[in-house]
Amino acid sequence: MATSLCPSTVEGAGVTKRDWKIVNPGGSRRVVVTKELPGERWLWFLTAADCRVEIAQGDDILAAPEIVAAFADHVDAALGQLTEAWSADTLGALAAAGALIYSQYAVGYDNVDVAAATRLGLPVGNTPGVLTETTAELAVALTFAAVRRIAEGDRVMRAGAYHGWLPSMLLGNLLYRGTLGIVGAGRIGAAYAGMMVEGHKMDLVYYDVRQNEELEHSIADYAAFLVAHGERPVTCRRAETLPELLGACEVVSIHAALTPETRHLIGAPELAAMKEGAVLVNASRGPLLDEAALVAHCRAHPRFRAGLDVYENEPAMAPGLAELDNVVLVPHLGSATTWTREGMATLAAANAAAILQGWPVWPAVAGREDVLPFLEDEKPPHAAPSIVNADDLGLSQYAAQAAATEEKQ
Ligand code: DGY
Repeated sequence: MATSLCPSTVEGAGVTKRDWKIVNPGGSRRVVVTKELPGERWLWFLTAADCRVEIAQGDDILAAPEIVAAFADHVDAALGQLTEAWSADTLGALAAAGALIYSQYAVGYDNVDVAAATRLGLPVGNTPGVLTETTAELAVALTFAAVRRIAEGDRVMRAGAYHGWLPSMLLGNLLYRGTLGIVGAGRIGAAYAGMMVEGHKMDLVYYDVRQNEELEHSIADYAAFLVAHGERPVTCRRAETLPELLGACEVVSIHAALTPETRHLIGAPELAAMKEGAVLVNASRGPLLDEAALVAHCRAHPRFRAGLDVYENEPAMAPGLAELDNVVLVPHLGSATTWTREGMATLAAANAAAILQGWPVWPAVAGREDVLPFLEDEKPPHAAPSIVNADDLGLSQYAAQAAATEEKQ
């Protein structure tokens, strides 16, 4: 694959001087990628679609003027990041430069004005299915790090402050057979719930505007399995209100999507409704939680603990948060495994390549196995893995018929 490095040709107000890596310089379609992405397979999708791929170099976040400048006279697609603001103006500039798609390297897209993209006729791609279990596992890790005081213990060891085993040193809580609450029972919330319920025999309470029958059935099946083995069953119920869940659980993990309605879903009154020694985990989106209220609550309630992967104003943290011993902090690592991050790159590229070639949209994904053909098959489906506004734009869906035609090719 031909590759070269070019300095940015456009500089000026708000535009950083940077290098761009060019892959497949002779490609007839131009795709701008705002960050270097892991793996190789994603580039194969784009070069197979005859794309010249221009990749911004550097770890800093591209501001809107620089992104727009990169479109230049013409661009066919853009692959962007959750850290960038894809506003109506930026998307408008993208559409005006001739692009047929904005493809986001993330499952979440609260940084994208999807309504504006839809008005512009611009499909918006995202990457579900490849980070469900990975993000759920990180939420599990944060839960245990918080509840068993792992980061505090690590600090004790590194400070040379461990002077021998003590009966009451760094005591945490037992989760086994406790009650777990999830706020948002979508893909990741349900995967996290499954891991915690089946791994630690916890009872589940979930809060979601939609009933998750699949989750309820799988927990009922597990409960039946326990009974068949002479054990007490676990239970699952959907809370009618958020306070009802908050008051009932030893662990509460947030897995809701960020929308204007869910901003500060958990604030001071909700924290006050939680048990004194409860654990709150957030590996979803920072603004779901009022971070200043969390700082105040953790200060006032030393037995309360939190595990955070995401922050209200990333990469900044609320004043005081970093000083709290009862909070475990990691830098937005939910999807950070090699398999997942490479897979996200593949899905983001596959979305762009498919739309540029006029291919239909893969049926809505419910689980990881649904996107595996894009990640693993030698001849991946001629489809876009996930376009969030596909229905609103009336994009056609991939059908079994299409698969049969591809087989013959
Ligand atoms: C996403 O894809 O939305 C995640 O936050 C990335 O880890």
